[in-house]
Amino acid sequence: MTTTASTSYEALFRVWRGDTGGGELTDFRVEVNEGEVVLDIIHRLQATQAPDLAVRWNCKAGKCGSCSAEINGRPRLLCMTRMSVFSRTETITVTPLRAFPVVRDLVTDVGFNYTKAREIPSFVPPPDLAPGEYRMLQEDVDRSQEFRKCIECFLCQDTCHVVRDHEENKTAFAGPRFLMRVAELDMHPLDAADSAGLDRKATAQDEHGLGYCNITKCCTEVCPEGIKITDNALIPLKERAADRKYDPLVWLGNKIRRRGE
Ligand code: SF4
Ligand code: SF4
Ligand code: FES
Repeated sequence: MTTTASTSYEALFRVWRGDTGGGELTDFRVEVNEGEVVLDIIHRLQATQAPDLAVRWNCKAGKCGSCSAEINGRPRLLCMTRMSVFSRTETITVTPLRAFPVVRDLVTDVGFNYTKAREIPSFVPPPDLAPGEYRMLQEDVDRSQEFRKCIECFLCQDTCHVVRDHEENKTAFAGPRFLMRVAELDMHPLDAADSAGLDRKATAQDEHGLGYCNITKCCTEVCPEGIKITDNALIPLKERAADRKYDPLVWLGNKIRRRGE
């Protein structure tokens, strides 16, 4: 007779419970089965031990970006974190995103990100082309396409040290997700921002806080879509913004404009 090792076990979970008034970590012992992800375990806790445990989720497929939380202190998607990455004996701590205010339990108010999104002027259509007449090189399409994979989970926003422990920086800093949006628009060959009097490189520096980013790449490390936020968006945007600043013609133009003010 052959015997098979049990595929179920009991895990130790420590989950933050609380609301805007404060809270604490609560310990649970909970069943885990083969192939499960952390969100399955949170759902089992709701079903068996903590029916009022608040968690936000929708797709359970890594595509809606709503189940973001911190697992053992690292920003992650609950639905894409397999239980098999942890040892069976370790305590798994699940806490809400630290950079945003808690609503309840694992649910945070991510409104900061929507505010920042609204502050970025959208694509300016080229005035001399009608819809349907737009043509782009495939390499330009591919460049934007990488950034378009963003699922707005805001894990990068949560992990960025500029705002993670510095609430006071939030006014001046858009965060990696939205600086990436500025970069995408700035490198878009058909964006006619200049003709509309909008200098995206200047606003990246002056209004969206590009200078706060010291290219640590922590945002890139946590992105579940594998977007190279720092290498492909933030560093090129910094380079273009610096080129603009030290371009003698731009310098002369600014000087003349200032004198004429
Ligand atoms: S690379 Fe810049 S935006 Fe990304 S985490 Fe570091 S400081 Fe923040
Ligand atoms: S860039 Fe990546 S980590 Fe940031 S919000 Fe988009 S998908 Fe999430
Ligand atoms: S539930 Fe949609 S990304 Fe996790």
